[in-house]
Amino acid sequence: MDYFLLLLFHIFAAILFVGTVFFEVLMLEGIRKHVPRDAMRTIEAAIGQRARRIMPFAILALYAAGIGMAWRYRTVLAQPFDSTLGTLLGLKILLALSVLAHFVYAVSMGATGRLRSRQSRMIHLSVFAHVVVIVFLAKAMFYLN
Ligand code: HEM
Repeated sequence: MDYFLLLLFHIFAAILFVGTVFFEVLMLEGIRKHVPRDAMRTIEAAIGQRARRIMPFAILALYAAGIGMAWRYRTVLAQPFDSTLGTLLGLKILLALSVLAHFVYAVSMGATGRLRSRQSRMIHLSVFAHVVVIVFLAKAMFYLN
């Protein structure tokens, strides 16, 4: 598939995924104090249900397009410490794998009803920190060369 198409899939999926994480951490957490607990629970359940329907497709597109694009950089990635691009792209991919591990963990805990709200908040914060660094690396890898 054309590299430009992969890049488009990747960037739109990244906007959807990163945007959702930003919304949950910066907006939802910010209104928690001003909304009654029951109402907040209902909102979170509805958003969670919506996210569970949309996110798997966003994640599939994000990672599949990412792997497709990374193929072009395979020689750089084979020697990640020989260039800034290789180091930063390698680090970005490692962080992306860690995000995937968070997602799989949260989904499996949620499916068995073992995901506590405090734990869910910690996962959101951790994924938030990951995606901030990932987006920084995605741009820095071309400019810090
Ligand atoms: C949480 C997961 C990920 C996020 C949020 C993310 C985000 C981004 C962003 C924002 C860009 C910059 C696109 C642009 O401005 O042109 C980018 C580029 C890139 N990403 Fe990802 N990415 C993720 C996962 C991955 C994975 C798993 C891979 C590969 C295995 C990957 C490989 C790449 C490559 C090769 C580029 C450079 C594209 C170019 O040639 O410009 N990404 N990513």
